[in-house]
Amino acid sequence: MELGSVTHKELFCRSIIDTHKQYDPLEMPWPELDEPALELVRSIPFWEEALYREIQAGRLVSAYAETVDDPLVREAIAMQGVEETRHARLIEGLMRTYDIKVRLRPVEPLPADLEDAFMALGYEECLDSFFAFGMYRLAADAHIFPEKIFAIFNQLIDEETRHNLYFINWAAYHQIRTGQGAEIIRSLRSLWYYGQALTRLVSGFASGTANSPGFTAHGISSFAIDLTPEKFIRTCLQEQELRMTAFDRRLLRPQLMPTLAGLASQLLSLWPSPQPHSRSA
Ligand SMILES: [Fe+2]
Ligand SMILES: [Fe+2]
Repeated sequence: MELGSVTHKELFCRSIIDTHKQYDPLEMPWPELDEPALELVRSIPFWEEALYREIQAGRLVSAYAETVDDPLVREAIAMQGVEETRHARLIEGLMRTYDIKVRLRPVEPLPADLEDAFMALGYEECLDSFFAFGMYRLAADAHIFPEKIFAIFNQLIDEETRHNLYFINWAAYHQIRTGQGAEIIRSLRSLWYYGQALTRLVSGFASGTANSPGFTAHGISSFAIDLTPEKFIRTCLQEQELRMTAFDRRLLRPQLMPTLAGLASQLLSLWPSPQPHSRSA
């Protein structure tokens, strides 16, 4: 299959449109939690950031979809907008059920350049999802919360996987169609957006705040899991690979984070890790 072809377009658009599942985000079967589990869920530091990002993403993606001429591409992007807005509702439902208090942030006006903002969001989501994949797997395997909670979040993370996959393919398709299709140009462009997101991620980690790309990785320190950085990265890599196997092999996959993380994982494995990363660490 040729990248930028009609077959490519139909494949990546169908990968999100045909796999959309219907559910009411305000009617999720949240289980009852005992007091320690309630305390734990309230202590996870990123609910405010997650809610804010989903609200902003829903507005931005839906607004950008309206500017797209191609009906199939528009439908695919609009589908992501619907799902991002639904994620915000789902998180609101979780916060209401478990009485999680967060500061409500004002909604920001939409940027003038919707396409550029949509591009930046797509790469940022690839980065966020990479860490969310690993965190989800480690928390689920450690049975930190009742199974029903993981089933609900599995659906949400599956939706983000679909967003990552169709976005990476849309970005390649769009650049080819707009005359920026040479591989070197596409690579430099994605490096530029990833670089922006990574810079914000590093500054977020340096300041210890959960309001930067990769914010999901901050949540892992809330869980009492014995964990080395190497194991965390390895789990993120394995989980991303596993979730991406569900899609047509002809489609592109997000590459930069797995490449960087694979490199980091190999380097870290050369070092003896003196202390596991645990809740007290
Ligand atoms: Fe989302
Ligand atoms: Fe998303």
